[in-house]
Amino acid sequence: MGKLAPEITLNDGNQIPVIGFGTYLLNGASGCNVITQAIQRGYRLLDDAVNYENEGAVGEAIRRSQQPRSNLFVTSKLPGRHHQYQAAIATIQESLFRMKLDYFDLYLIHWPNPREDHYVEAWQALIAAQKFGLIRSIGVSNFLPEHIDRLEKETGVLPAVNQIELHPYWSQKQQRQYDADKNIFTQAWSPLGRASAVLQEPVIQQIAKNQQKSVGQIILRWELQLGVGIIPKSSSAKRQSDNLNLFDFSLSNSEMEQINQLDRPNGRNKNQDPAIYQEF
Ligand SMILES: NC(=O)c1ccc[n+]([C@@H]2O[C@H](COP(=O)([O-])OP(=O)(O)OC[C@H]3O[C@@H](n4cnc5c(N)ncnc54)[C@H](OP(=O)(O)O)[C@@H]3O)[C@@H](O)[C@H]2O)c1
Repeated sequence: MGKLAPEITLNDGNQIPVIGFGTYLLNGASGCNVITQAIQRGYRLLDDAVNYENEGAVGEAIRRSQQPRSNLFVTSKLPGRHHQYQAAIATIQESLFRMKLDYFDLYLIHWPNPREDHYVEAWQALIAAQKFGLIRSIGVSNFLPEHIDRLEKETGVLPAVNQIELHPYWSQKQQRQYDADKNIFTQAWSPLGRASAVLQEPVIQQIAKNQQKSVGQIILRWELQLGVGIIPKSSSAKRQSDNLNLFDFSLSNSEMEQINQLDRPNGRNKNQDPAIYQEF
């Protein structure tokens, strides 16, 4: 088993591992096997969502792993079609039934869907579900400063986590600064750019060669040194272990800066701008 990832303390006092395991596209029996192995290799945080349609597989992997529930940190996300208050409460309960769990460590609003404009209502449902004990920490995903400002103004409760697209082509300097100013922990989704062209970047390949690490490890280490959490997905035993083994080396300021320079104005993987893009 690999080393366990360190934890940090969220603004609500709960602890979260800085490395988690992404479960998007890991479905059914084969997905369940991969997730079980990831837990056995040392992952403690599992990142799921109602829309991944694999809460059953994740729940089953948790049981097969035989890890005590308290050793694990389980996240799921509320889809856009269930932002209305009563629907949101029922959706959280249904997620728990599918996973066969009593509580989530973290539940996020998956996308703000600002044209629908029900995300404040969804946030009130998460606040209530936290009070009922269904969720330990509540957070958001893909929220821009204007969306979080509204949550704060209308409910007085700030998210503990904002999970956003973040990789070397889209490094989110301003959103990271905003989150840090509000004491919100930023977590990076698609931290490897979903294995896109970023893995071929000569600058990162050179750093990997010098450090005798894989390109994936260099990118993930850069993210940890930016101060964000990461949730890489891998079906491979080798890459699952590599993605956890990020603590026996570090990047110099100059190496960090070289990777910072790869940021692009249109660096999103699929052009999903939360100000416009909606997901249900
Ligand atoms: N909140 C949101 O809106 C949102 C959106 C997207 C994703 N997410 C979450 O974020 C998680 C991670 O994002 P993602 O799955 O989109 O992409 P990702 O983790 O950036 O990339 C996964 C891809 O990278 C490959 N890979 C993994 N480790 C590698 C390494 N060390 N070297 C080279 N290639 C490597 C994987 O292939 P192998 O499997 O073959 O290793 C897979 O093709 C998701 O699973 C999901 O939980 C959230």
